[in-house]
Amino acid sequence: MNPIEIIRKKRSGEKLNREEIETLINGYLNGRVADYQMSAFLMSVYFQKMDFEETAILTEVMLRSGVVVDLSKVPGIKVDKHSTGGVGDKVSLILAPMVAACGVPVPMISGRGLGHTGGTLDKLESIPGFRTNLSLKEYEEVIRKTGLVLIGQTNEIAPADKRMYALRDVTATVESIPLIAGSIMSKKLAEGIDALVLDVKVGRGAFMQNEADAVELAKALIGVGTQFGKKVIGFITGMDQPLGFAVGNWLETVECLDCLKGKDIPDLMEVTYILSGAMVMLGGKAKSIEEGIEKCKETIQNGKAWNKFKELVAIQGGDVSYLEDVSKYPKSKHIVEIKSEMDGYIKNIDALEVGFVSIMLGAGRMKVDDEIDLKAGIIFNKKVGDKISVGENLAVVYTDKSDDLRTSIERLKKSIFISAEQIIPNKIIHSLVDEQGVHPWYGCG
Ligand code: URA
Repeated sequence: MNPIEIIRKKRSGEKLNREEIETLINGYLNGRVADYQMSAFLMSVYFQKMDFEETAILTEVMLRSGVVVDLSKVPGIKVDKHSTGGVGDKVSLILAPMVAACGVPVPMISGRGLGHTGGTLDKLESIPGFRTNLSLKEYEEVIRKTGLVLIGQTNEIAPADKRMYALRDVTATVESIPLIAGSIMSKKLAEGIDALVLDVKVGRGAFMQNEADAVELAKALIGVGTQFGKKVIGFITGMDQPLGFAVGNWLETVECLDCLKGKDIPDLMEVTYILSGAMVMLGGKAKSIEEGIEKCKETIQNGKAWNKFKELVAIQGGDVSYLEDVSKYPKSKHIVEIKSEMDGYIKNIDALEVGFVSIMLGAGRMKVDDEIDLKAGIIFNKKVGDKISVGENLAVVYTDKSDDLRTSIERLKKSIFISAEQIIPNKIIHSLVDEQGVHPWYGCG
């Protein structure tokens, strides 16, 4: 079959077989399928979807387009976490050292921020000297020595995803469940993991805007992972307001350092503990998620998570002195406090709009090759439900950009809604999804 027939078949809503999916993906990599044909195929999948069998084949073909790392010589059950992305989502920086300090090896291949969402790699690279571009040989060496490693997607890992993602990004085909599942799982399965915990975000600042889509995505990811013999569970978590207080790479890293040293930022730590507790359980070091959470909490109290993070930063070339003394870091040209113009309670902080404002401030990128300012961002002083008075600090903006400053501040002010009535914030962890289905989450114990 030629690519045109395969595109037409998908366009009419028919199911594709392995040979057809291989023809398209492999043909795209070897130049027999053009960019415009792949774009048409992606748009057909966007509208006509794929069933579970097609999604699993797509994932496998994308996975086999590159190297699958073999970490079988690293002792222990290797567990990673993947978040579908959000604003202020800095969980990996706290969770990875906690889980590694519990004795569960954590190999992580992460992404960069794109569009309104942030990315783990940019946050790590805000630490002077930190290298995320390790070779796969170095990746194996680091996890063997420290029990954790955090790098970016190399050219050898799922190259089909790298090229297809770049095309999806500019053809409005990112928000498709089979394409997201194929993209995420092809990279995760290539890392050398045994198990995976998913954080599927739902809400204004997430790819998935409603609960039903988030659950469908979680089920697709879990189904594919399980088919490849991995233990996978997921949590559906809220992403209506930014997670924690900080948005922007270095600002978020500093917030993580505070948490690693024992600060409790309730929404951020609730998500971090549930995901890390589940990882420790899947890694065989706890019998339940609750026990996993207790073990993770101990690593904060006894300083082991903090020491593990410093060990990681040092081995990946980062300058640990910036972690010990964050005041050494260069300062933004403009540091502007935004004050409340009314009394009341914070009703909402629109995560999507905050993500776009952070791009205007220089903290994010719209195109993959845009330069970012690692110092730029926002620190909120309030969360949804908090009381606020006229003249009180709502947020502080950090940027070197003079041109867009006034517009950014106006947009940020409009993204924070204040109500005269008291607000009860929505719960952040909605449900647990596993092979058996969806289980509402009422908390531990
Ligand atoms: N993250 C990915 O890696 N791929 C997607 O398609 C969406 C989010």
